[in-house]
Amino acid sequence: MKTILGKDVKIAGELLHKGELVAIPTETVYGLAGNALNEEAVLKIFTAKNRPQFNPLIIHIASFDLLSKYVKHFPVKAKLLADKFVPGPLTFLLPKKEIIPDLVTAGSNKVAIRIPDHPLTAALLGQIDFPLAAPSANPFGYVSPTSAQHVYDSLKGKIAYILDGGECNVGLESTIISFDEKENVIVHRVGGVPLEEIENTLGEKVILQIQAHESPDAPGQLKSHYATHTPLIVGDVSALIKKNQDKKIAIISFKEKYDDKNVIHQYILSPAGNLEEAARNLFKTLRDVDKTEADIIVAEKFPDEGLGRAINDRLNRAQHIYK
Ligand code: TXA
Ligand code: MG
Repeated sequence: MKTILGKDVKIAGELLHKGELVAIPTETVYGLAGNALNEEAVLKIFTAKNRPQFNPLIIHIASFDLLSKYVKHFPVKAKLLADKFVPGPLTFLLPKKEIIPDLVTAGSNKVAIRIPDHPLTAALLGQIDFPLAAPSANPFGYVSPTSAQHVYDSLKGKIAYILDGGECNVGLESTIISFDEKENVIVHRVGGVPLEEIENTLGEKVILQIQAHESPDAPGQLKSHYATHTPLIVGDVSALIKKNQDKKIAIISFKEKYDDKNVIHQYILSPAGNLEEAARNLFKTLRDVDKTEADIIVAEKFPDEGLGRAINDRLNRAQHIYK
């Protein structure tokens, strides 16, 4: 299959209507989209990504008003959060209606839904009359794409079209939340909306249930998600440099510069010390550093606040498989 890169929302819509796959830009990362109501299209997503079918997909809709077409009910708190963060990097896990195929939710009775904040994808969703199932547009287990070129690099030949919407503004996947029977907010994945902002909006604490493995009952991500091919270690950078004197080292840091003869590449994610900027640069940096001749990647632990939590989560998952 020839993969076309372009900015034509109409072509993208027509292909999706025919059951083809289109990569779509969002503010978080690029998604690999197909018609969520068409099981054949949904199956193609799993195949193109090489993703196990027990790992459910997020569906993308044009506005919060459409939510009740796909979910049975939602708490008032969901609406309060939507007023503040929608469209945006917040995914709601809610009881699904029949119309959503079990294949999308991997058999779970809850569906994950979000309203992405990107003008091209908003226009696309406005043009079609079905929701889009879209996981991040990377091969299963690799770093999520934050540009059309990233998608092209790994999925060319496997999908019909890549809607090029430039670089992703947030650069990290959405925060995934659900509500327990007492309507407490449960956070399943830390992401583009910081926990503190959810807590400030509702005036209450959230409950963290970040899971290491993916299954409908244990939402989250596999630990090996986001893994670079080059081994990555998170920790005290100066100590790790000393410990790895026999290796060519690449460093990923927040704002600090490290000097050592073995450091062959140094990526500072935000010289000004801004976590939003660091988040935006993270996945591109992981891809870039993976192309160098470094033997190992050593990354700092970021401040555990705001988007720093999501950055730490992604870095920790990237290092896991080498342990
Ligand atoms: O920002 C994002 O959320 C991006 C963009 C494209 O929207 N999407 C994304 O999708 O990150 P994906 O498939 O890479 O990650 C979705 C996560 C997975 O960990 C999956 O297990 C979880 O959401 N998930 C999806 N549907 C679920 C469900 N019904 N129950 C539990 N977990 C679910
Ligand atoms: Mg993903």
